[in-house]
Amino acid sequence: MHILSASQFTPEDLGEIFERADFFSAELETTEGRRRLATIHQGEHIGSIFYEASTRTKASFELAAMKLGMGVFGTENAGEFSSIAKGESIEHTVQVLGGYGLAAIVLRTKEEGLAARAASASPVPILNAGDGKGEHPTQGILDAYTIQKLLGRLDHLNIGICGDLARGRTARTLAQLLAKYPGNHITFTSIPALKMGEDVKQTLREHGTSFTETSNMYEGLRNADVFYMTRTQNERDVSIDDDLSDEEREKAEELKRQQIAYDGKLVINQAAMEVLPEHAILLHPLPIKDEIAREVDNDPRAVYISKQSPTGVPIRMVLLDQAVMRLR
Ligand code: NCD
Repeated sequence: MHILSASQFTPEDLGEIFERADFFSAELETTEGRRRLATIHQGEHIGSIFYEASTRTKASFELAAMKLGMGVFGTENAGEFSSIAKGESIEHTVQVLGGYGLAAIVLRTKEEGLAARAASASPVPILNAGDGKGEHPTQGILDAYTIQKLLGRLDHLNIGICGDLARGRTARTLAQLLAKYPGNHITFTSIPALKMGEDVKQTLREHGTSFTETSNMYEGLRNADVFYMTRTQNERDVSIDDDLSDEEREKAEELKRQQIAYDGKLVINQAAMEVLPEHAILLHPLPIKDEIAREVDNDPRAVYISKQSPTGVPIRMVLLDQAVMRLR
């Protein structure tokens, strides 16, 4: 019933989602189509509860719901404006909201694992819109859909994934989705302090997906079919707790220093684009800070604004539609 992780989807599930997203996209192009869509879930409502900043995920989920005829109840800064600020548990929050007759709850949290905790208590589907450093399954699905649409396949690809791989939930999710398809090779690029988590690498090994790790961005760019750039997530601090031993504290502080020193060092600019093959696509989940130079926006291979981000609406329409249907 819930959408918590990329791992719950098979390539067949994803194929169905993509097909339905194609249908919704076509419907969205005409006035009659939009009118037809707006009757599908008329009279239903979703909750849109965000404990962390969002532009695209929140807007595209809410628009997706409205385009299917649903009403949206939301809170933007839930940590401050909801009863969580008074110490309420996430379990009670979703139980109460579910009790008001919502058809689904879209939830973004600062902490990994909170979406799963909410799901264990919720009477209605929980759609994980990003749980801290955990996962961002709906973003991973729209990233995969973009690759499928633009390159015609999700298998036998060379994919570069670059940036803050330790704290970037979209990079983590995409890597796990790509592991479901045969013949892919992933080149992870990051500084040593921000390497991809062991849990994701283990998933890749289990699926037989080959990967290499480097701190030289050009290695990943050179043979890429897809290059996925991400932002440094400096808001997700390394926690330096009081109860750390001297050695642990020193390690954590060094990690923090490296992360700060790293910020803004790996940058896709014109010189990097010259190395990226002509047929390749450059993706980014957005927001971009300074890891892609503005001049790159005009390159036809840079599709994050023009082609990738717009898929958020039809993909989230499909996922909401499926969630509401499952509840009925
Ligand atoms: C990402 C996120 O929130 O994880 N943004 C998004 O949802 N498209 C990426 C980021 O914040 O860097």
